[in-house]
Amino acid sequence: MTETASLARQTNDLDAFWLPFTPNRAFKRAPRLITRAKDMYYFAPDGHAVLDGLAGLWCSNAGHNRDPIVAAITRQAAELDYAAAFHFAHPKSFELASRVAALAPADLNRVFFCNSGSEAVDTALKIALAYHNMRGEGGRTRLIGRERGYHGVGFGGISVGGIVNNRKFFGTLLAGVDHLPATFSREHQAFTAGEPEWGAHLADELERIVALHGASTIAAVIVEPMAGSTGVLPPPKGYLQRLRAICDKHGILLIFDEVITGFGRLGSAFAAERYGVTPDLLCFAKGINSGAVPMGGVIAREPIYDAFMQGPEHTIELFHGYTYSAHPLACAAGLAALDLYRDENLFDRAKRLEKRFSDAAMTLKGLPGVLDIRTVGIAAGVDLAPRSGAPGERGYEAMDRAFHDEDLVIRVTGDTLAIAPPLIVTEAQIAEIFEKVGRVIRAVMS
Ligand SMILES: Cc1ncc(COP(=O)(O)O)c(C=O)c1O
Repeated sequence: MTETASLARQTNDLDAFWLPFTPNRAFKRAPRLITRAKDMYYFAPDGHAVLDGLAGLWCSNAGHNRDPIVAAITRQAAELDYAAAFHFAHPKSFELASRVAALAPADLNRVFFCNSGSEAVDTALKIALAYHNMRGEGGRTRLIGRERGYHGVGFGGISVGGIVNNRKFFGTLLAGVDHLPATFSREHQAFTAGEPEWGAHLADELERIVALHGASTIAAVIVEPMAGSTGVLPPPKGYLQRLRAICDKHGILLIFDEVITGFGRLGSAFAAERYGVTPDLLCFAKGINSGAVPMGGVIAREPIYDAFMQGPEHTIELFHGYTYSAHPLACAAGLAALDLYRDENLFDRAKRLEKRFSDAAMTLKGLPGVLDIRTVGIAAGVDLAPRSGAPGERGYEAMDRAFHDEDLVIRVTGDTLAIAPPLIVTEAQIAEIFEKVGRVIRAVMS
């Protein structure tokens, strides 16, 4: 083989890359390739446009390849590629932390950076455990998650998470974890736009778990305010308030995993603001820089940070961190993204478009095989009836057809479709997205 032929073979060879959370063999038979993006669109290798109905993966909230973000990353790469995050820092890390803290409610004012949502979750769980330890309550080691929760793929995240396939292959997970019940009931909530009326009482299950284990053994409860990856489950009205009250009563920390809901998805900077509930720790990632550079983080309430600030000043207060915490490129992209969110009022825009978005989603009601539709902010979940004996097959085909036949990116989990476009989506594009999804549903039901 000539050198050129060998290079061509290598660059066209799909074998080496093991795709995450993807049926690899099916993908490699009919790849969905993307080579370029701008604003609301991806572009395939032949140049045709594909409408992004998922903001990348719930992350490109300001749209793709926005000029100010591209320019900020380019400038930063030329100026400072990397600065050690342990013992040293660069100015943009402080600037971004201050900007994030200013967006977060109440005294959520101390920001710890990492590189992904999974790391944010592990960070928050570790801070919770260490916080109790610092205060002489080291017996508080239990962590409470929720069924159907998704908190990334670290061992902490899959332990408190509640999606069976993300757990069952990976051994015994963390010890001492319990789960609240999921908040979804099709019987009581089907086709609800926004927060369902039914289900606040499910927060009281935390009292049952406390009674079982004893409050003095429980460190923290972690929930997504809106469960995204499992198929968009908005919280029942009053549910988060009740969780907060029970946590307060028993000295348990409340962690919101806002990896999806942060940075405007629900029409406010954070879901904590939409629901008027302040968690003790808040995980973010994705939208922090519109998905341009890997980044995540945890915002802690001031008293939590303060609890660590004791002992001799030369000693490390929290034995935790990542080589790429507060990476200069991620921080530069974050500052540019926060500017765009502010200058283009994108969080308000999401709030303004919410009704239009949910009305468009609900037009799918009545199509064959549509079992439920849920919406909140600029996010929708659509449950399709599974094919008999082949759960997930119809959903996968719908996602694949959306890309190949309709030039649309959507997400699928099992037989549930998720739609969550960038917050710059226009009303016409919202209509177009759901028309395309409607045609896909008809096709996979026939
Ligand atoms: C709520 C939530 N937490 C954590 C994660 C994990 O984020 P990452 O894939 O960046 O590790 C996700 C990803 O979708 C998420 O939705």
